[in-house]
Amino acid sequence: DKGTYDYYMLKEIDEQPVVIRHLLDKYFDDAGKILLGDQLLADIQAADRLYIVAAGTSYHAGLVGARMLEQWAGLPTEVHVASEFAYDQPLLSQKPFFIFLSQSGETADSREVLQNINRAGFKSLTLTNVSNSTLWREATYALPLMAGPEIAVASTKAYVAQVTLEAILAYALSSRLDLDLEKELSRIAIEIQAIVDDKLTFKRVAEELLVNSQSAFYIGRGVDADVALEAALKLKEISYVQAEGFAAGELKHGTLALIEDGTPVITLLTQPKTAGLVRGNIAETQARGADTFTIATKSLATDGDGYVLPDVDPLLAPLLTVVPTQLLAYYTSLGRGLDVDHPRNLAKSVTVQ
Ligand code: M6R
Repeated sequence: DKGTYDYYMLKEIDEQPVVIRHLLDKYFDDAGKILLGDQLLADIQAADRLYIVAAGTSYHAGLVGARMLEQWAGLPTEVHVASEFAYDQPLLSQKPFFIFLSQSGETADSREVLQNINRAGFKSLTLTNVSNSTLWREATYALPLMAGPEIAVASTKAYVAQVTLEAILAYALSSRLDLDLEKELSRIAIEIQAIVDDKLTFKRVAEELLVNSQSAFYIGRGVDADVALEAALKLKEISYVQAEGFAAGELKHGTLALIEDGTPVITLLTQPKTAGLVRGNIAETQARGADTFTIATKSLATDGDGYVLPDVDPLLAPLLTVVPTQLLAYYTSLGRGLDVDHPRNLAKSVTVQ
């Protein structure tokens, strides 16, 4: 039920703080111990390489999760688009372990891959929002995303749930002592609330920057590049504005040619080690007339930036940066008079290959 909302998408964006709290309740006990199952963790630790397989927004969540598994837990991890993996399988390591990410648990491309790897006798884990779905039933292990039903075709809260649960998993497999993940995630839930309470800022920016544009670019480095892909997908999907997200360093290798007077360039800037380089990239686009809007964390922000987020552990930044991009897509779709929840040509769950 949409309640007082015009569209499910906005309701689901607003639910994101609660989704994180549900995950904290489910996966941390009262003493702060992580509850994921010892056998699952042992099986992952016994693998020599992890393969994350997913589609669309879930694939973008996988890109972030892979960085956490590699950088926090030291586990080599590859991320693959399911429709590619199913027919062009990469050379596998000796002891692979598979992680499937899927809101619906029914995506046909991912199911095809799971069937193949089950035949080969490899172990797997599905993270899904739908308990008892096909990917849930057919994987060795399954964990719920706790996001509650996601109705809008554009996925929002499932992404936040996936990134949060991947963080919990990577943290459980790591020996990080410098981060209290439970506390950090609780704080992030509060900060997401502050962003969604600031909706009108993003409505205004969408109207000024995107509603009347033919195209838009999202740039960033590291996890910010991963979120740039997701931001562009969301904008394309519901507003039909041609959008591209990519690693900021790639600008000068081609895309800079497309920047002209008034081209919207939205930058995500949360990674201290590359912030200086990203500033240079923003300047390159401004020199060609781009209309820039920058979403930066506090200690990296400068006066001209559009929106400032609180500082956060660098690999958890996607949980914050994705929210403004969801709101920008929402208000662009709304401003263009479109049916936000039902974009043309698309289905919520893609059950054909
Ligand atoms: O149910 P799944 O997570 O497996 O679905 C994967 C994609 O079809 C899905 O994320 C799609 O890209 C969304 N409509 C994006 O908003």
